[in-house]
Amino acid sequence: MIFNYTLLEKLLLRFNVIPHPVYDALVNVIAGRALQASLKLGLVDLLSEGYHGLSEIQQRLSFSTEGIELLMTNLVALGYVKKTKKDMYSLSKRGQRFFNIESKYAIRNFVYFSEQVYKEFLDLEQSIKSGEAVRSLETLNPQQWEIFTNAMIEMARTNAKSIARAIPLLPSQKRLLDLGGMHGLYAIEFCKYFPQLTAVIVDYEDVRKYAERLIAQNNLQERIIFRVGDFVKESFGSGYDIILAFNIIHGLKADVNNDLTKKVFSALNPAGFYVILDQIKDSFTMSNLSRLFVSSIGLMLLNKVGGKTYPLEEIKKWCRDAAFSKLEFKRMMPPGYGMIIATK
Ligand SMILES: C[S@@+](CC[C@H](N)C(=O)[O-])C[C@H]1O[C@@H](n2cnc3c(N)ncnc32)[C@H](O)[C@@H]1O
Repeated sequence: MIFNYTLLEKLLLRFNVIPHPVYDALVNVIAGRALQASLKLGLVDLLSEGYHGLSEIQQRLSFSTEGIELLMTNLVALGYVKKTKKDMYSLSKRGQRFFNIESKYAIRNFVYFSEQVYKEFLDLEQSIKSGEAVRSLETLNPQQWEIFTNAMIEMARTNAKSIARAIPLLPSQKRLLDLGGMHGLYAIEFCKYFPQLTAVIVDYEDVRKYAERLIAQNNLQERIIFRVGDFVKESFGSGYDIILAFNIIHGLKADVNNDLTKKVFSALNPAGFYVILDQIKDSFTMSNLSRLFVSSIGLMLLNKVGGKTYPLEEIKKWCRDAAFSKLEFKRMMPPGYGMIIATK
């Protein structure tokens, strides 16, 4: 994302002399696609090793002269690649942070995931008109589940530890339920931080192997179980002290969320927590970055699963109607992301 415009560019953008739609509708789309190609074709990995000249890169990756020049210019403009005066190229600090396979901030799978979104998004008009999804989770194939799960793992790695530390669980609070816990990373971080906890993850069979792998890697098989099920249609039991719905409410219709909040309330012990993490509409009133992020994710969810992003007030209303006594909202990164902690 370009943010270091020249002074003249800032003025021309401000006064609509630069034709914004060309950048919004064409250039951004192509630049996003170029980023996906750079990752898929191994360019990003080669540049993460250090400096290389264009002809060497071209030979090693079997690129055309035209292709490598254009792609590299694109990546330099986006700030992921830096170029020396002697025409040598390597990943920039930003490129290393987000694309080096060793980086704990890597978001490579999100880029692969975005390629899936590109392919599907040509029927967006249909969802906008009908207010319904054109596809559903049931239509995902195993490879798409893998990319989706890995993308969610990358996001969870950025905040799972800090979220676990932000919830004031008491030593007497011992049972966690993670609705749509997918890869299990949130349940894992909670169990690592709170030694008294045991956890149940409810999700579909398609993601069980990813959760079980991470649970085993963290030696938490005795404390975390993965239960295959549908948390909307089936009972998920009771006696929990904390229930997580992370990146879940945006996939459900408002009435389903309303019912789910009541179901969660009944399943919680007194003083238990319902913690919602999601993109929250209108939570950053001054920020267009937040507006763009939250509405774009909302459009993606509408098209994919018939979901949307919700305003804080609506989420609070579900919680108040369910009789939660205390509500707290915490802003997260990126702008537009937030956490609601409802206490029974
Ligand atoms: C966007 S992912 C979120 C994963 C994880 N909570 C996170 O924040 O990283 C949504 C997950 O919820 C699961 N899910 C959605 N609806 C579900 C339902 N009705 N029952 C069980 N799992 C569901 C999906 O399979 C997926 O794994």
